[in-house]
Amino acid sequence: MVIKTKPLEPLPVISEDTVLNEAMECPTDRDLDTRPLAEESSFAFWQKDIPEEYWRLDGSQIIARIAAARKRLGRRCVVLGHHYQREDIIQFADFRGDSFKLAQWAAERPEAEFIVFCGVHFMAEAADILSQPHQKTVLPNMSAGCSMADMADPEDVYACWDELTEAGITDVIPITYMNSAASLKAFCGRNGGIVCTSSNAPNVMDWAFQRGKRVLFFPDQHLGRNTGLKRGIALDQMALWDYTLPFGSLGGNAPEQLERARVILWKGHCSVHNRFSVQQIEKARRDHPGITVIVHPECQMEVVQAADADGSTSFIADAITEAPAGAQFAVGTEINLVSRLARENPDKLVYCLDPVVCPCSTMYRIHPAYLCWAIEELAEGRIVNQVELDEDTRRDARIALERMLAVK
Ligand code: 13P
Ligand code: SF4
Repeated sequence: MVIKTKPLEPLPVISEDTVLNEAMECPTDRDLDTRPLAEESSFAFWQKDIPEEYWRLDGSQIIARIAAARKRLGRRCVVLGHHYQREDIIQFADFRGDSFKLAQWAAERPEAEFIVFCGVHFMAEAADILSQPHQKTVLPNMSAGCSMADMADPEDVYACWDELTEAGITDVIPITYMNSAASLKAFCGRNGGIVCTSSNAPNVMDWAFQRGKRVLFFPDQHLGRNTGLKRGIALDQMALWDYTLPFGSLGGNAPEQLERARVILWKGHCSVHNRFSVQQIEKARRDHPGITVIVHPECQMEVVQAADADGSTSFIADAITEAPAGAQFAVGTEINLVSRLARENPDKLVYCLDPVVCPCSTMYRIHPAYLCWAIEELAEGRIVNQVELDEDTRRDARIALERMLAVK
């Protein structure tokens, strides 16, 4: 991975009484036992090209240095945090949200010159696409990707599209889940398609069916299947496209199967959400009669069907936060969010359906030392880890993302 370092415009002098941004009021005095990066990033796939001094910083040193750098940057810099970020990162976030809300934020706030995105790569790409040209998006650790997004290699999707066309399966609207490469969002923009997130997938599917007979939904088969069911599409009108099969195999489908299909599902999944099971839900109901089971729609169909409710990370957070004292929730989503909701709602029972902790390992790669490095570089007038797309991708992906924001 090539990390770009660019000189920036000189910083304006910020006086002591300059109104600082919201992050300055965040509880950044909490040293949450952050282990130095050198101890945590023993894995080969974490970004290595970060200056030596950051490897050994402890939690309290990092907190002090981030606070000082942010004071210098003031309102020029904003930190966005996805709900799955670890606690010692989320404490620095000016705004936290699900992927829809964070994309919406980037589209609507041109005043922030630097958007430091604490999330994963596809989210930072969406922020770069939707923000204004003068804004720059930074991902503190470039190795924070998404294994589900990686299951849709753009070349495989283009090949699928060509195979469908050659087989006479036409009138197809492509829908890509937000968790995908920017080039696939651009592909959707060029081909009459759209992006969806877990918060608006049913409305996006309605949008697509107003324009075509069927949809090609990638990369998450589970979100696609769960959404199709919500829109009254029967399982026998859905086909599963196995992208690992060679060109010409029609993704493992007979031509008549595809002809009948209204939803063609890419065979991708999230390994975090695949861990949740109906047995866990049954156990939760046995242990706590009357408990509400709430899951993310990336879970398998049987799990979503057995749950009381499903929705995006913000939907889950709002449902629990707004519930009355004494409410009980068994939750099927990433552990950092569930643990935070449990901590922030001490008057309710909130726990994770999966007894084995299931963090998203790529979200976890945003270690505070990376954030410190990225922000200190900005304060010094340099930019590292900028997420920046070429003009053609940006233009076409923006079409699909703006369609998504309009559908809500
Ligand atoms: P949300 O859009 O619900 O925040 O989900 C993003 C994600 O990656 C879930 O795994
Ligand atoms: Fe990707 Fe799953 Fe992590 Fe979400 S939880 S970012 S889908 S790997």
